[in-house]
Amino acid sequence: MKLAVVGGGSTYTPELIDGFARLRDTLPVEELVLVDPAADRLELVGGLARRIFARQGHPGKIVTTSDLDAGVAGADAVLLQLRVGGQAARNQDETWPLECGCVGQETTGAGGLAKALRTVPVVLDIAERVRRTNPDAWIIDFTNPVGIVTRALLQTGHKAAGLCNVAIGFQRKFAALLDVTPGEVHLDHVGLNHLTWELGVRLGGPGGEDVLPKLLAEHGDAIAGDLRMPRQLVDRLGVVPSYYLRYFYAHDEVVRELGTKPSRAAEVAAMEKELLEMYGDPALDEKPALLGKRGGAFYSEAAVDLASALLGGGGSAVQVVNTSNRGTLPFLPDDAVIEVQARVDGTGAAPLAVPALDPLYAGLIGHVTAYEDLALDAALRGGRDRVFKALLAHPLVGQFEYAEALTDKLIAHNREHLAWA
Ligand code: G6P
Ligand code: MN
Repeated sequence: MKLAVVGGGSTYTPELIDGFARLRDTLPVEELVLVDPAADRLELVGGLARRIFARQGHPGKIVTTSDLDAGVAGADAVLLQLRVGGQAARNQDETWPLECGCVGQETTGAGGLAKALRTVPVVLDIAERVRRTNPDAWIIDFTNPVGIVTRALLQTGHKAAGLCNVAIGFQRKFAALLDVTPGEVHLDHVGLNHLTWELGVRLGGPGGEDVLPKLLAEHGDAIAGDLRMPRQLVDRLGVVPSYYLRYFYAHDEVVRELGTKPSRAAEVAAMEKELLEMYGDPALDEKPALLGKRGGAFYSEAAVDLASALLGGGGSAVQVVNTSNRGTLPFLPDDAVIEVQARVDGTGAAPLAVPALDPLYAGLIGHVTAYEDLALDAALRGGRDRVFKALLAHPLVGQFEYAEALTDKLIAHNREHLAWA
């Protein structure tokens, strides 16, 4: 089996390699190609990746290349984990929206739109090139904003599924609180990427006993504390929102907080510098603890599980993925991309049925889907007016004055990445 990772020079890659090494029975990778235009990073990351494989006795070969077409040729699955414009562009996404009193975040709100506009054309070009060399390859997208990027891939006919680590993070956390193995915990995870709620926490399987009320009664403070949301809010919902919902439920508070500290991009850039220095040390042959301070915990495990199920291996039959709606949430278009539990096999991902949703969640999901629809249109066709409409549709922007100002800021800060601007 051959896998390619586009954006393989990312400082995150050792996390992925560690997962491939530990879980080699689930996903027997013979050749792993790390593809990245940044040759210097690739050398450092590739060196550590080879040492991790060697230490763990993994027989697979690790190849590094800056030649995308050569790298993806013949791959059974291609993982996309790239970041157009790097942390510098992310820093912008997290900063200029604050000037209008709106949240500055890389996937949510105006910053998320900027990231979508930069990213969708690049990802579609890569996908086209993958398809030219191997029309059967699966594309697994971690590249944010995952919902919009996955929708772009699916709409243009690619074999793709989108992946995020929010669900696997909750699964691991709840398993620890319940003192059971992660595999025993099934989440009724519903929504859009970075806009989800855990409506139930089932033991033993998708139809198992729902222990969420018990979890909240016994560990409500810990759960709310982790989310940095009031316990009262979590209790009143009776479900567990993802931490990305804080940008909605505590928008103004978050904006005030963001105004008083360095951006996450700046923090991550400093960590990346340190990580790359570590990766250059020939004595290092495991992922360093510092990587645990990044948001991507467990993403390697989710990736192995998904790739293995799509390639007909031993991955879990039911997993949380981003895939097209197909009537699952009846108030959304069929081609909207949702993040839910799905049955995954060699034919792809098929969402499991979801019971009728409370308007408290359906309303926001519908609203953000409309934004995503317009955001994708702006990403594909460009133009100031399309950017403006996406911003006006976003529940965290909404007002004419802000949508106008943010449109100009978005374009000014991203001109070099937007072919039409
Ligand atoms: C979580 C999200 C990812 C996001 C990451 C950011 O893992 O699910 O989509 O990319 O956090 O982490 P960072 O360490 O870059 O802030
Ligand atoms: Mn994510």
